Amino acid sequence: MKIAVTSASGQLGASIVKQLIKEIGKENVIGIARTPEKASHLGVEIRKGDYNDRQQFEQALKGVDAVLLVSGMDEPQKRIEQHRNVIAAAQTNGVRKIVYTSIVGDETKSAFAPIVKTNRQTEEDVRESGLQWAIGRNGIYIEPDLEYLDQYIKAGEIRNCAGEGKCSYTSRGELGYAYAKMLLSDRHNGQTYNLVGQPITQGELAALINQVYKTDLVYHSVSVEDYETERKDELGEFMGTIIAGIYEGIAIGSNDVFSDYEKAAGRVHKAPLEMIQEIKNA
Ligand SMILES: NC(=O)c1ccc[n+]([C@@H]2O[C@H](COP(=O)([O-])OP(=O)(O)OC[C@H]3O[C@@H](n4cnc5c(N)ncnc54)[C@H](OP(=O)(O)O)[C@@H]3O)[C@@H](O)[C@H]2O)c1
Repeated sequence: MKIAVTSASGQLGASIVKQLIKEIGKENVIGIARTPEKASHLGVEIRKGDYNDRQQFEQALKGVDAVLLVSGMDEPQKRIEQHRNVIAAAQTNGVRKIVYTSIVGDETKSAFAPIVKTNRQTEEDVRESGLQWAIGRNGIYIEPDLEYLDQYIKAGEIRNCAGEGKCSYTSRGELGYAYAKMLLSDRHNGQTYNLVGQPITQGELAALINQVYKTDLVYHSVSVEDYETERKDELGEFMGTIIAGIYEGIAIGSNDVFSDYEKAAGRVHKAPLEMIQEIKNA
């Protein structure tokens, strides 16, 4: 059984590859990457695959039994065709199963909605592919908040527009574990899972970070408009809109969803405190 993982040079792809190596050995895992040299450290066969280039995937998916498609990073509209390149190449190569990393969220109500909508379209494309399939809807990663910690400490606060909304954070490590199981067991075929942990508010997130990092952060809520302006000034139009849209989504409850993690992974999702401790100690 050969399993291939796309975007293996990225952090989520790498996490899934590492978990698969533990489960089935490195000789059965293939990493596919737009930039192969960035994935060579994984110690598995690496094949070239840019989502814009269907021909590369026609080659990359030869002899592959199951493929994990990591959602792309481009503008929403481009992603649909990019993902279709991978699905089409999987069909022509006789790949038996496809697993797709989608996202939790609402399709209409926030500035993040266009991203969610394109993920839902790819979900449809995967379901209609004729291949066996499984889909995970990822929660928000907790890692970026911890990577941003120096800025939070400098400001003395976590400030965004999430208000009292709850977010069911996950981590790339937790996702890697669940996706390996979803690839390896046919029990998950035809299932769409919310891959999320326990929901917490931004105030609770600040308190947990304070507990682990011995910081003294407080949480300040600002309006969606003010936060969007601030983020666009710092990150530019595209990323600023996405980041503000994510917190707007949290404010309106889009990320406070029921978790299917245990069904997918066969164990409970780690608590936010445990994830933060592990990331600090890594
Ligand atoms: N749930 C969340 O909180 C959250 C947060 C951020 C992103 N995401 C989504 O999750 C996905 C994976 O996240 P991550 O943590 O692995 O991000 P990451 O570490 O930034 O990696 C992004 C990956 O996407 C690859 N990529 C970009 N454009 C590509 C293309 N045209 N063809 C093939 N590969 C391409 C990159 O390849 P190169 O190495 O060649 O650049 C890299 O491997 C993202 O793509 C995004 O859709 C989710």
